[in-house]
Amino acid sequence: MTSTNADTLTRSTDSSQPLVPLLEERWSPRSYDETATISDAQLDAVLEAARWAPSAMNFQPRRFVAGRRGTETFRKINENLLGFNAAWAFRASALVVGVLETVTADGDERPFAQYDLGQSLAALTVQAHAEGLHVHQMAGIDAAGLRAAFDLPERFVPYTVTAIGTVAHPSQLDDKAAAREVAPRTRIPLDEVVLVKE
Ligand SMILES: Cc1cc2nc3c(=O)[nH]c(=O)nc-3n(C[C@H](O)[C@H](O)[C@H](O)COP(=O)(O)O)c2cc1C
Repeated sequence: MTSTNADTLTRSTDSSQPLVPLLEERWSPRSYDETATISDAQLDAVLEAARWAPSAMNFQPRRFVAGRRGTETFRKINENLLGFNAAWAFRASALVVGVLETVTADGDERPFAQYDLGQSLAALTVQAHAEGLHVHQMAGIDAAGLRAAFDLPERFVPYTVTAIGTVAHPSQLDDKAAAREVAPRTRIPLDEVVLVKE
């Protein structure tokens, strides 16, 4: 059942079938507790989950740049968030750049890099929720700025930034963002998503 509750900070999935609790409870907040921290062990755990995700041919064409709030790395990631993202993500406990390895050092192409990075961030997200944290992925980033900030070679392409932290009451956001934070979460119906099922 849909559960949108600004007081308990839950915004559960309105799923047509019962799902495992982690998937039922996962959602992407923008209101994070700016006093909450992520431990070194928690950050290692989510990155380890990303590392163990499957990838085509086990090539693992993904890399990460992770910074906890208060560090120089976090500051550099945060200043390369675009538009609306810059208005909320600074309160997260950590920001993680998802980097594509598009070509190896030997010149071999990695055409499934985007897919494989996405898989690893899905695993990171599930692990983070198991740690009691919330995750919000962002494509609205300055990829060139991030590459320059971390001196990445051309073959490494910053593709997303993922905010990880502790969800907080939406009242700290502006009115429009706060309303989005408690709006019902929606999806295309299952019978539209599944083209064939026999
Ligand atoms: C690849 C990707 C890029 C996204 N980019 C942004 C973004 O730049 N800014 C933002 O606020 N949300 C972004 N989102 C979050 C989505 O809007 C969000 O996952 C979607 O609305 C579903 O909401 P839910 O995660 O709470 O179920 C992104 C999500 C993904 C997977």
